[in-house]
Formats: sequence, structure tokens, C-alpha cells
Amino acid sequence: MIILGIETSCDETAVSVVEGKGERVKALSHVVASQVKTHLKYGGVVPEVAAREHMIAMIPTLNAALLQSRIKPEKLDAIAVTSGPGLITALRVGTQAAKTLSYAWKKPLLGVNHIEGHILANWFIKKTIKLPALCLVVSGGHTELILMKKHGDYHLIGNTLDDAAGEAFDKVAKLLNIQYPGGPKIQKLAEQGNPAAFDFPRPMLNSANYNFSFSGLKTSVLYFVKKHPEVIRNAKADLCASFQQAIVDVLVGKTIRAAKELKVKTVLLAGGVAANQPLRQTLEKKVRELKRVNFFTPPLSLCTDNASMIAAAGYFRARKKDFDDFHTLEPDPNWELVR
Ligand code: KG4
Ligand code: ZN
Repeated sequence: MIILGIETSCDETAVSVVEGKGERVKALSHVVASQVKTHLKYGGVVPEVAAREHMIAMIPTLNAALLQSRIKPEKLDAIAVTSGPGLITALRVGTQAAKTLSYAWKKPLLGVNHIEGHILANWFIKKTIKLPALCLVVSGGHTELILMKKHGDYHLIGNTLDDAAGEAFDKVAKLLNIQYPGGPKIQKLAEQGNPAAFDFPRPMLNSANYNFSFSGLKTSVLYFVKKHPEVIRNAKADLCASFQQAIVDVLVGKTIRAAKELKVKTVLLAGGVAANQPLRQTLEKKVRELKRVNFFTPPLSLCTDNASMIAAAGYFRARKKDFDDFHTLEPDPNWELVR
């Protein structure tokens, strides 16, 4: 089956063509037009600006993805598009484009959940992923532990009570005068720093549930910097490394505890923050210690927002003929994969 994927939930316009066979998916093309530079001057994503940029980028990105894949529209089996969660103005552009193509090309349409897409980004490998799997989804808007029993069967194990992990990276970056998006830049600075230099809290690490909370950690970095403003000049790398270590300790600690309790066969790491090297390495090491539990995380290009992951999620739905109607599909900015 050949699926066209479209993603416009935030600040990347992305289109991919993906081939699915059995349990495997393979990207035939993968094109991402990033708006990061446009939003830099605002210090974050401006929804109205994002929507306009998606409008401008949609047709060139679609053309590039079709050309790169060498697939003619008539060969497509379905069109998958992110229809939530995300910025409503941005989601609307992708959804409308997909609905139009579905009508014009007479192809079935699939409205895909962005978080399911992040999880399915793990399927672009030659190995078979054994289920049940525990997925740690960490992005700019989400920090969730999700138990995946089979395709389409997801259970929420833990969630953030306030800020998402990526949001904490971005907010701490802002108060250290580091440009948006802060995650990759904090990681880079942290490489030169000592993660034990400052002792920041590990919120909810030992709480009797699998929920997270990162707002207090951000506030404690804020108070620390207010009290010791000189550290921004003298010890920025140590500050970044210590903050990053606190996030990694909490995410890894809780994921490992849940994996043991739920007796899963696989642990999956997904979402934009999954691009963070210390998080990838520490979680992989700790999962290996569990024995007989596999660990997978997508390559970096599939961690941050892209359309290959949306097409992959679309493929597993298309196999079941679980299509949407192009007359009625509407984007839902608050669509939770599991409630
Ligand atoms: O999944 P994503 O591309 O967009 C959303 O769906 O939110 O995730 C974006 C988030 C941003 O908060 C960004 O700072 C964070 O992922 N991020 C990172 C890294 N790369 C991206 N955070 C920490 N370390 C990284 N290397
Ligand atoms: Zn995302």
C-alpha cells in the first residue's frame, strides 16, 4: 500500500510518501519545510503566521515529495493527514489540502492523530516490534506514557500535570536568553557542562503514579538564576547540563518503573524531545538492564515533526479500511489519543 502523508500541526509543513507491507513501513520520500526561522523573531510559534506559511509551502512541499518518491497520484492508496492535536489554524491548512486531494484524486482519506504518528515513527525499521509496548511520548506539547497493546489500542498510563518536557526545555532556554526552539541548543551547551554542578529538583520521580510535572523545575531554575545571575555568564553550560539531567532522571526513572510493572516486551521513545541524546542513551541503557525488553527510538529526522510518521499511522488504519469521510473530517486541536 502507498500512502501520502501530510503534516501541518505546528511549524513544519511536511509531506511524505510511504510504502507499507505487512508490519513494515518504508519512506519513499520525506520532505519537511521548517518555519523555525520565521518564528525566531517572536520567540515562539505564532499560530496565524504558521497558517500563512503552511499555505505558501503546501504545494511546493507536496510537489517535492511526489517527485522524490517517483509515485504518480493515481498509484496512491490513501491520503493521511494530521487532524489533531495542534494549532487549529495550522491543522486546518493540512486538513483542507488533504480533503481537496482526496476529492480530486478519488482516494480514501485518513485523519491521523499526531501523537499516534510520533509513536509509529518507530516502525521504519527492519525488525518487528513486539507488543505490548510502553511508549514515552515527549514533545513540545505532550509528555505521556502510553501502553500500546496493538495497533489502535492505546491506554494512558501517565501524563504531565502542567508543562510538557519540550515546553520546559523551551521555557528554560528563554530565561537563559537562548533562542527558540531551546531543546537542541540546551543539549549542545550541556555537552560542555557538568550535570552534577547544580542540584535541581526531580519532580514526582517517586510519586505513586506515572504522572509528570515540569513547571516547578522550570520555576526553580528561574529562582536560581534570579539569585545567582552571574551563572548565566559564568556557568551556562553547567546550568544547562544540570537542568537536562533533572529532566532525563525523571523521564527515565518513571518509564523504567512502569515498564517493569506492566511487563511490556518493548519500550519506545518518541516525539521531538526523543532527539535528545542523553535521554536516548540513558533510557536505552536502563531498558537493556531489564533483560528481554527491546528498546527502539526513531532516527532524529523522524523524531521531530514530519509526515512519514503520519503516513505510517495512516497505513495501519488503511489496512483495516478505517477511513474518514472527506465531507465531514474536521481538525480537532485538542484530540487526545487516549483520554
Ligand atoms: O514533536 P515536536 O517536533 O513538535 C511537537 O509536536 O511539539 O517537538 C518539539 C519539541 C520542542 O520543545 C523542542 O525544544 C524539543 O522538541 N526538542 C528537543 C531536542 N530537539 C527538539 N528537546 C531536547 N533536546 C533535543 N535535542
Ligand atoms: Zn510533534
